[in-house]
Amino acid sequence: MTRVDPLAYLSDELSALDAQGLRRKLRVLEGSQAAGSRVDGRDVVNLSSNNYLGLTTHPRLVERALKATEELGVGSGSVRTIAGTMAIHLELEARLAAFKRTEAVVVFQSGFTANAGTVSSILTKDDVVISDELNHASIIDGCRLSRAAIKVFPHKDAEAARRIAKDLPANQRKLLITDGVFSMDGDLGALPELCAVAEEFGCIMMVDDAHASGVFGKNGRGTIDHFNLHGRVDVQVGTLSKAIGALGGYVAGSRALIEFLYHRARPFLFSTSHPPAVAATAIAALDVLEQEPAIIDRLWENTGFFKDGLQALGFNTGLSQSPITPVIVGEGSTAMKLSDRLLDEGVFAQGIAFPTVARDKARVRTIVTATHTREQLQFALDAFAKVGRELGLL
Ligand SMILES: Cc1ncc(COP(=O)(O)O)c(C=O)c1O
Repeated sequence: MTRVDPLAYLSDELSALDAQGLRRKLRVLEGSQAAGSRVDGRDVVNLSSNNYLGLTTHPRLVERALKATEELGVGSGSVRTIAGTMAIHLELEARLAAFKRTEAVVVFQSGFTANAGTVSSILTKDDVVISDELNHASIIDGCRLSRAAIKVFPHKDAEAARRIAKDLPANQRKLLITDGVFSMDGDLGALPELCAVAEEFGCIMMVDDAHASGVFGKNGRGTIDHFNLHGRVDVQVGTLSKAIGALGGYVAGSRALIEFLYHRARPFLFSTSHPPAVAATAIAALDVLEQEPAIIDRLWENTGFFKDGLQALGFNTGLSQSPITPVIVGEGSTAMKLSDRLLDEGVFAQGIAFPTVARDKARVRTIVTATHTREQLQFALDAFAKVGRELGLL
């Protein structure tokens, strides 16, 4: 009997993506993640990574990772709640709590699991989430898993969030949640205004600061520090996978919140903890943030130079306030064409289309890092100018 492929419909879906020019090819990095990289067989200026401070290859981090591996092995061998809590995990959590100025921190395997695991465990189907429309997918998945009612407010519209909170019963448990930095637009959440709404209506206030740690605030403490909101955000999520250069996510808050997550957050309970090298690397990254803050100044100097350059050329860079600068072109296929042609010219900047961003807001997303040289950034601007004209975008 010939077997009918029950997954044949997936090939049809892929053909449809092909027809729309939206089929994604995974770009392959042949060396390390760095400002100048080798991608798909060519040397490029890399404007696609979240390696804001260049820490993926920082000698202090590499040395600590190697030492931890030699001393402690390559794996933790268990979930945290059984045998997988190593002293180095607790050392990292204590360092992060001091860095974030909160009572306690718990580390998850990724920023994604930190968001999804936290929102889904602190809420139930009887609760309500008030969520910015552009919040990260991991927040949305956490909301769905919690089965709480989800009420979405227009991007950064704190007044709309206030109206939603006001219409809910006073004794209704509510979570007000925003990204600190929005990952596709690079703008900042309306944190001060949303904290005021949360306080007025007794909402739990939660901020996902994945793109802000190591970038905003004193020594890279994030947007809560940037806006001076210490003590007003109940749940802070951060990631160790972007500016920190390694892998992981964390939740910072009260001791009770963290102890509760030990008991209820499913990724914490049911997935193995990080290898010791990951924790050691993140500790070394915190040392760098505290002892070499000039690295963050360099990130911002490069950000200013590159953003000004793109704007001077006439590109639509949206409302970015961070090192993430989108070049918004509209059609998904145009964004992919721009990205492909830039790669031909030696610049790696990913095209982003629906469903990651709205259908008419496709873009090429750029992120500069502290380790890009001026020559690399000028080279990239020249390529954007050439390809932008070629595609009729300028
Ligand atoms: C806003 C935001 N939150 C959370 C995450 C997830 O972080 P991680 O890559 O550590 O899972 C990301 C990264 O993609 C992000 O952009």
